[in-house]
Amino acid sequence: MLFKAVTVETDDKNLLNQVFKLRHTVFVNEQGVPPELERDEFDKSAYHAAVIQNGEVIAAGRLVIKGVSGKIGRMAVKKEWRGKGIGSLILQKLLQIGKEKKITCFYLHAQLQAVPFYRKHGFAPVGEIFEEAGILHQEMTLEPMILRQH
Ligand SMILES: CC(C)(COP(=O)(O)OP(=O)(O)OC[C@H]1O[C@@H](n2cnc3c(N)ncnc32)[C@H](O)[C@@H]1OP(=O)(O)O)[C@@H](O)C(=O)NCCC(=O)NCCS
Repeated sequence: MLFKAVTVETDDKNLLNQVFKLRHTVFVNEQGVPPELERDEFDKSAYHAAVIQNGEVIAAGRLVIKGVSGKIGRMAVKKEWRGKGIGSLILQKLLQIGKEKKITCFYLHAQLQAVPFYRKHGFAPVGEIFEEAGILHQEMTLEPMILRQH
């Protein structure tokens, strides 16, 4: 099956709501993150990417830009679609968006179980493990060498 990650246009409220619905399913229902933490003020200004299959959002992620830094976050793939390269497509799309916006430093807070996933994409751990929303996380940044290849 061929999948494609798209940018969610800010005025496409229907698509954006589907993105939020998927995130709620994954982070709140599946992982127990409090809903008031899952949605935040950065959603408004963030760039969102999604993969759509038969009219349904099956994966999403966002990029929050601050100056020349871009924070990747809220990476979520619907459970039955994981392990098929779809999360990777979302990540690549967000990196592409960031590069177009002249971002030179990409970073993220990875849940510990997702560290190998981000490593595969050239992110390396920085600093100590910490807790966020009741889940252990590791900050990671994209190696500059990898950034040049994207
Ligand atoms: C993490 C997540 C976004 C990855 O998306 P995905 O579509 O499953 O990942 P992909 O299929 O693109 O994986 C690419 C590679 O990373 C590896 N990988 C993915 N998730 C992994 C995990 N949890 N642990 C170890 N390796 C993982 C895969 O083995 C794959 O490697 P391969 O190409 O050599 O087989 C997805 O599993 C998910 O939504 N998880 C639940 C929510 C979550 O934890 N989000 C991350 C918060 S930081």
